[in-house]
Amino acid sequence: MHRRIFVPGVLAAASLLLAIPASAAGYAPGAPGIGDPYYPYYGNGGYDVSHYDLRLTYRPATDELEGTATIEARTTQDLSSLDLDFLLDVSEVRVDGAKAAFAASGQHELVITPKAPLAKGTPVTLVIRYRGVPSTKSAYGFSTWHRTPDGAVAADEPESAWWWFPSNDHPLDKATYDVSVAVPDGTQAISNGTLQSTVSKLGWTRYNWRSAKPQATYLTTLAIGKFDVTTGTSEGGVPVVNAYSADLGDNDGAARASVERTGELVDWLSGYFGPYPFSSAGGYVPNTTTGFALETQTRVYYSPRQFANGSNTSVVVHELAHQWYGDSVSLKGWKDIWINEGFARYAQWLWSEHEGEGTTRELADYVYASHPADDAFWTVKPGDPGPDDQFDLAVYDRGALAIQALRDEIGDDAFFAVLKGWPREHAYGNASVDDFRAYAERVSGKSLTALFDTWLFQPSKPAAATAAPAASLARTARPPAQPASWKSIEATNDVHGH
Ligand code: TRP
Ligand code: ZN
Repeated sequence: MHRRIFVPGVLAAASLLLAIPASAAGYAPGAPGIGDPYYPYYGNGGYDVSHYDLRLTYRPATDELEGTATIEARTTQDLSSLDLDFLLDVSEVRVDGAKAAFAASGQHELVITPKAPLAKGTPVTLVIRYRGVPSTKSAYGFSTWHRTPDGAVAADEPESAWWWFPSNDHPLDKATYDVSVAVPDGTQAISNGTLQSTVSKLGWTRYNWRSAKPQATYLTTLAIGKFDVTTGTSEGGVPVVNAYSADLGDNDGAARASVERTGELVDWLSGYFGPYPFSSAGGYVPNTTTGFALETQTRVYYSPRQFANGSNTSVVVHELAHQWYGDSVSLKGWKDIWINEGFARYAQWLWSEHEGEGTTRELADYVYASHPADDAFWTVKPGDPGPDDQFDLAVYDRGALAIQALRDEIGDDAFFAVLKGWPREHAYGNASVDDFRAYAERVSGKSLTALFDTWLFQPSKPAAATAAPAASLARTARPPAQPASWKSIEATNDVHGH
């Protein structure tokens, strides 16, 4: 876990020395950020969550959410107070059963001060009672809570939790979840994992969802609305749960014709990435007006617009690839976004080749040739793009090109061993771009420092010579033709317009 020296904390600790008994000396407030330089206030310091239990009630007509969050955590330093990231209105906080003081702070901090300070390395149970209308809340001037005509959806990256549950909001602190949501009869609540039970009483139905493998906060999703839920099992034995808003209009058929292939595509991806890491798979298509898709763990979020031109298996492949690359193996810092997006894009290339719509080689050559050396595309460093360019097209396309260059360098045997070995090596954990380089070096027996530097860290177009076969165009001299899959892969790029 991250820990960093936080100056105000040090000062607070000094004043504590004067105010309270010597036994509490050294107790300091937990940092308001986990230490990610891209997002200094995301996540928090001083503790590590193992489980979130969210017991919620939601009224679609008024967007009122009320609930109790019970958080199981362990302290990682002596704490006089700790922060959660949250925007709704808190009415009570308990720490190990005792009422605690609390106050909102900064853009999205909830500062909790327990009656007695917490010693490093001890388990702690936090209970937060809250309510609020999420659509009225914002931080840094924006909101990612998506209202729909019949409900709402929490799905966004890197932030979506603040609007519906208090958390340590950073992928470094993954935890398991029980999400229990009561909604009026006839409305459904969709979340991650498996539906353990539904209970109806006095006009309300409570949906009890469980996600039993470590899950990042931004991959935890909630959708409330009128959904048609389908269930099944893939040929390879993975249970599948999908949900479609009753309000998809003309996109309904194409949405189903894409997302109903989840089981088939999970099995196909398992051939490259190894066994599917979770106990269920699936996706949901709510009636939002957004354009993006998101790899929410076990239950992918798709915008209806993704299906406006007909079925779109490419986006399904992209989001399912993230279940291994991004969800089971999460990034350590947001600068490591390439280990998510480069590989999810490369999976789309593999699918294109499988479908006979252009090989990975052809797609790589096309990307390379499409961007002249003076194109700003090459100034983005996929290995550390900066917060403003975190989801730039280059992270995806140059990112996938880097993966093709790695394949060219180490050969197919080592390459596919890396592709399958990585999700096993870091299953349910966190890893960085540098960890990936080290792993690929170990498997291939080659030094890859120069290759990674050229493709991921230089703000310029790699020379055709370095581009190895990645410029078959150096051989043909003619610009490569646009692969048949290009338009459909490009159509999955909606997020870059953000
Ligand atoms: N991770 C998403 C994908 O490519 C894309 C994404 C980036 C996104 N930023 C986002 C989605 C913000 C929603 C909101 O699959
Ligand atoms: Zn992605």
